[in-house]
Amino acid sequence: MPQSRFRAIEGTRDYYGKEGDRFDRVIGFAADLFRKYGYARLRTPIFENPELFARSIGRATDIVEKEMYTFTPGSDSVTLRPEGTAGAVRAYLQHGMDKTGGLVKFWYEGPMFRRERPQKGRQRQFHQIGVEAIGSPDPLLDAEIISLGLRYYEYAGVPGAGLRLNSIGCPREECRPAYRRLLHEAVRPDIEKFCPNCRSRIDRNILRLFDCKVPGCRELARNLPKSHEHLCPECSGHFDAVCEAVRALGGAFTIDSSLVRGLDYYTKTVFEYTHDALGSQNAIGGGGRYDGLVEELGGNPTPGAGFALGIERILIAMETAGGCACACPLQVFGVAMGGSARRAMAGMLARFRAAGFSADMDYGERSFKAQLRLANRRGAMCCLILGGNELERGEILVKNMADGGGQETVALADCLGNVRKLLPC
Ligand code: HAM
Repeated sequence: MPQSRFRAIEGTRDYYGKEGDRFDRVIGFAADLFRKYGYARLRTPIFENPELFARSIGRATDIVEKEMYTFTPGSDSVTLRPEGTAGAVRAYLQHGMDKTGGLVKFWYEGPMFRRERPQKGRQRQFHQIGVEAIGSPDPLLDAEIISLGLRYYEYAGVPGAGLRLNSIGCPREECRPAYRRLLHEAVRPDIEKFCPNCRSRIDRNILRLFDCKVPGCRELARNLPKSHEHLCPECSGHFDAVCEAVRALGGAFTIDSSLVRGLDYYTKTVFEYTHDALGSQNAIGGGGRYDGLVEELGGNPTPGAGFALGIERILIAMETAGGCACACPLQVFGVAMGGSARRAMAGMLARFRAAGFSADMDYGERSFKAQLRLANRRGAMCCLILGGNELERGEILVKNMADGGGQETVALADCLGNVRKLLPC
């Protein structure tokens, strides 16, 4: 058998078959649920100006320092988006949505690109679904967003998501800058014990110490002062209100002082969803508030908050939860023998599809047995069987494919109603 030498690039992959179906349904659930919370669909390009990401995510972050795919095809450089928030805020400003004066709520999905070391749950092209709500500082909005993420996991059939919550304060002198100074003092006696990467970041962005995965650095970071215990009065009140509102919406969480997130645009609330199915890459989603980002990108000071959930990690968690209640088997498979029966079957399936059923048939003129085998392979719940004789009599055989399911000959005109009783759409 000839074999192609072409393979998907390391850290990228194909989705097909059952997993392809699940991937689509993960997005379908998001479209459904996010709309109920008032989020409208936003599509932005997958490449943007590199400066957009440097200004948003921060120059001293792993993403901007090491992981971006940046090309210079002509005179201008472009970067494949490593995340969706920067592009969403860029679009918000570019299209004058800041002039509407109200809260603007987007949801999005699509591929993101980071040049990380591939492993389980970590790819170089991965996919996110996310929401952004721009225009309100209200802690109730943070709580709505946080609980929406939890609700999404339940809705999509991923039980057992955990929630870690923290606040990293605001740029006011007495808040994050004062906390940073406190960290510098606390780090000074042990500075030589941190890894070279951490040491190089202490002056540029000391909060990034908490991102380091080196065990020795993690141990040292555990004993450092905690951000949520050193907030200014406004941020402290905001954090308390967020915690209370999340609790009131039924969300269980732990406060994790080491959670600073790997992107610099965050202010106040930060959070991550976790799942045990993922091993070391246990963050299945994350987000937070970014009250300075709109201004950083050239707009008026405007608060915002959002999250992104990793589709690959949702799929892994679904698999562990028992292969996903949402896997989408084919409802109706048409088995037809002979030219006129095949044409009649094509018309019948069009009626089933219009009525909301998933329906398919064989297009290879295979034998009756081969078509039934195909129906089984496709997981069809019901088969419609039509030959030349049945067609002449104006009849069709409806076969329930469930174990022990029976079969019944019905008039062609009654076929749809009959299957509807068998498989409510
Ligand atoms: P993030 O934490 O960088 O946040 O990514 C969100 C989620 O995307 C992660 O929790 C993870 O599930 C998934 N993810 C990230 N990198 C990879 C990868 N290399 N392979 C597979 N999955 C990955 C953001 O991107 C922010 N934009 C979230 C946000 C929206 N904050 C406010 N609004």
